[in-house]
Amino acid sequence: MSTDDLKAMAAERAIDFVEPGMKLGLGTGSTAAKFVDLLGGRVRGGLDVLCVPTSEATRAQAEALGIPLTTLDEEPYLDLTVDGADELDGELRLIKGGGGALLREKIVAAASDRMIVIADESKRVETLGAFPLPVEVVPFGLRATQAMIESLAGEAGCHGDIVLRKAADGQTFRTDGGHFILDCRFRAIPEPEVLGELLQMVPGVVEHGLFLGLADAAVVAGSEGVTLLEAHYDMV
Ligand code: A5P
Repeated sequence: MSTDDLKAMAAERAIDFVEPGMKLGLGTGSTAAKFVDLLGGRVRGGLDVLCVPTSEATRAQAEALGIPLTTLDEEPYLDLTVDGADELDGELRLIKGGGGALLREKIVAAASDRMIVIADESKRVETLGAFPLPVEVVPFGLRATQAMIESLAGEAGCHGDIVLRKAADGQTFRTDGGHFILDCRFRAIPEPEVLGELLQMVPGVVEHGLFLGLADAAVVAGSEGVTLLEAHYDMV
């Protein structure tokens, strides 16, 4: 079975969580795109949902499929967000932002009652960090911001090259919000919560791609079938 088939399997399982009348967050990336395609089919069949896309790419896809869209300004509370991930560990901690949409993805996930991750089994890891951690930064003061990230990440036991993301045309990649992305090749992130807190202290950092305590469940598709992993967060 190809990775593409596995992504489709995960998306199909996640469609079962959608109920009529729901307000949904629509993720970004190749796995989320499969979910949006399936949702488009359901909407054509009469399903009533209202959706907030997490990127301009997803907005264009959803619009083309006739999926009713809104914004968080109109609808600040969503029932469910379904999104992909670049990595997920056993505690449903995620790395996201490989597609550059991490800021809107995190805002939409945080505005949602539930977040369900859809992924093929290659995304499941023991320790986060083999996938370079995307950190969205403002262009102003880029080198100072990068130096501060490097220094604070070291305190969290994370070391490695930090690379300014380029687009396919060789230009510096810009997010939908007009920011830059630094891809942090740490290889391993031993304490994601510690790193997340330290990154938030850097003034030039807009957001980082560690999604901690946000995912409620993950639908992971592998050659043996689909597994549903559920998070168990302590209530405070
Ligand atoms: C987009 O910014 C990302 O967070 C994606 O959700 C993530 O990169 C997964 O993408 P794929 O489904 O294409 O692997």
